[in-house]
Amino acid sequence: MPINFNSVEFESAFGLTKQIPTSDLPEIIFCGRSNVGKSSLLNKITNRKSLARVSSSPGKTITINFYRAGDARLVDLPGYGYAKIPKFEIERFAKLMEGYFSQDRNMPLALQLIDIRRPPTKDDMMMMNLLLDRGINFIAVLTKADKLNKTQRAARLAEFEHELPAEGITMIPFSSLTNEGVNEVKAAIADIVASPKDGKF
Ligand code: GTP
Ligand code: MG
Repeated sequence: MPINFNSVEFESAFGLTKQIPTSDLPEIIFCGRSNVGKSSLLNKITNRKSLARVSSSPGKTITINFYRAGDARLVDLPGYGYAKIPKFEIERFAKLMEGYFSQDRNMPLALQLIDIRRPPTKDDMMMMNLLLDRGINFIAVLTKADKLNKTQRAARLAEFEHELPAEGITMIPFSSLTNEGVNEVKAAIADIVASPKDGKF
């Protein structure tokens, strides 16, 4: 059975690396700063209103959440870069990420979400460099595309070409309000699960 976006179910949530069970299934990872729209995207591609909790207050997702999608897992990471969470939480988060990414897991693709209106933040760059270092294939999903007009969008897309940390990274403008990019994101995930690439893109 390939990936199935229509029967996705929440499986488990982990706040500590040592709780995460070893994995056999491919994991599609959703990364991005707090409030960028990770949980909204997850709900969109699975056609569910509230599979993942969406909130206008940042820092909503504070655990690594696993969702089962047929023969793959979708992994909603806690958002980084939110200044107002307590220091011990930032430390726990850093350890959680480090632990997760250093485990021997099957990670064929990450979706790096970035707000289309702004350049990648320092934390976004750290996240993408971590993915590059680990050889994890990723695409840039440019969220909240509904907030820009055509001219602004074209300008930002041109800027992203040299703001992203490597050449040739696939960019998908996305909006959970207009559904722009939903099919492209699903196709990118389905392709990778059907025929995973080795190493870097
Ligand atoms: P954390 O769980 O805190 O890491 O946040 P998140 O990345 O999961 O973001 P979430 O999906 O909860 O969305 C944050 C806010 O942005 C909510 O108010 C959403 O309604 C809004 N939002 C998400 N996607 C879009 C979009 O495509 N367009 C617009 N205009 N707003 C969006
Ligand atoms: Mg979230």
